[in-house]
Amino acid sequence: PGAALVDRFGRHVNYVRLSVTDRCDFRCVYCMSEDMTFLPRAQILTLEELLQVARAFRELGVAKIRLTGGEPLVRRNILWLLERIGELDGLRELVITTNGSQLERMATAIRAAGVRRVNISLDSLRPDRFRRITRTGDLDQVLRGIDAALAAGFEGIKLNSVVLKNRNHDEVHDLVDFAVGRGIDISFIEEMPLGVIGDHDRAEAYYSSDAIRADLGNHYELLPTTENSGGPARYYRVQGTSTRVGFISPHSHNFCGTCNRVRVTAEGRLLLCLGQEHSVDLRRVLRAHPGEPEALKAAIVDAMQIKPKGHDFDLQGQPVLMRHMNMTGG
Ligand code: GTP
Ligand code: 5AD
Ligand code: SF4
Repeated sequence: PGAALVDRFGRHVNYVRLSVTDRCDFRCVYCMSEDMTFLPRAQILTLEELLQVARAFRELGVAKIRLTGGEPLVRRNILWLLERIGELDGLRELVITTNGSQLERMATAIRAAGVRRVNISLDSLRPDRFRRITRTGDLDQVLRGIDAALAAGFEGIKLNSVVLKNRNHDEVHDLVDFAVGRGIDISFIEEMPLGVIGDHDRAEAYYSSDAIRADLGNHYELLPTTENSGGPARYYRVQGTSTRVGFISPHSHNFCGTCNRVRVTAEGRLLLCLGQEHSVDLRRVLRAHPGEPEALKAAIVDAMQIKPKGHDFDLQGQPVLMRHMNMTGG
């Protein structure tokens, strides 16, 4: 079937990010405030509802589904959902974005459930810094998780590093070394201003992708590629290696013109853009019309009409979006 989801700007939506929980065992400074409260159970979609949403998107032509959180691997019985989504007819990619804390015990099982690629957040290789950025995370546990993912035979592993001036900007070269040593990819991300997060000053922490590329240029030959993983990153290949370095640059290189994705929040809100609040309440549709996939699909098709042109992130002053990143998984 042809792609049924097209917005007012002619962009085809073929990628959906499902946030399966707002909870996480880390409290990264760019994502959450220190004293987050999480949603009560009744407000988040059940696994059965998440599967219905995934199925509806698949029937509307979506070929790539990414599970996010919070931390997706802390959701109870997440393997059940992965296995069911993995079996959907015609799905090209089932992928997951994780903080890595549960991979040591789960990597083999999620690979077996049909997950093709994993993106693992890794902002620092120094235990003290890692702890300061994640507030509760244990670097060694994540490194063991990465080893487990390598052993599990995924088709692709990519590290994600949110680069913050004076917290980890001087580590980009160590992080690339780490990726090259393991034959995996890495993306550097400019922080996006979602939610109020206390004493972390986002304008002060801004470090541009171009600055990172210049820093890396002192150590590596970075060859531009036209490769695309279907996400927002621009990729370079590290000459003489299999590693690609991606840059996700919402501030310095806007990528909204080629946006191909929507996300569903943990409480079932279909969010048409990460940087805007335009949304449709799929949970209401699911619960008002149980067992009626047509109602759900109609709501999704209609929602394409309100997908906005793009974000207008501004690092100065208070964030415009009160929603924290853990509601959407990025
Ligand atoms: P690939 O499939 O490997 O390309 O992954 P991805 O980059 O699409 O997903 P991932 O979950 O690894 O996200 C990496 C970063 O990209 C996170 O900081 C996300 O918030 C950000 N990101 C992903 N999609 C969008 C988007 O549509 N808009 C914006 N502004 N940021 C996005
Ligand atoms: N800006 C940019 N990226 C973020 N992430 C979490 N919060 C932010 C933010 N405010 C990243 C995580 C993870 C991915 C899903 O999004 O580090 O790698
Ligand atoms: Fe798409 Fe909005 Fe992200 Fe831009 S900010 S790429 S329009 S989701």
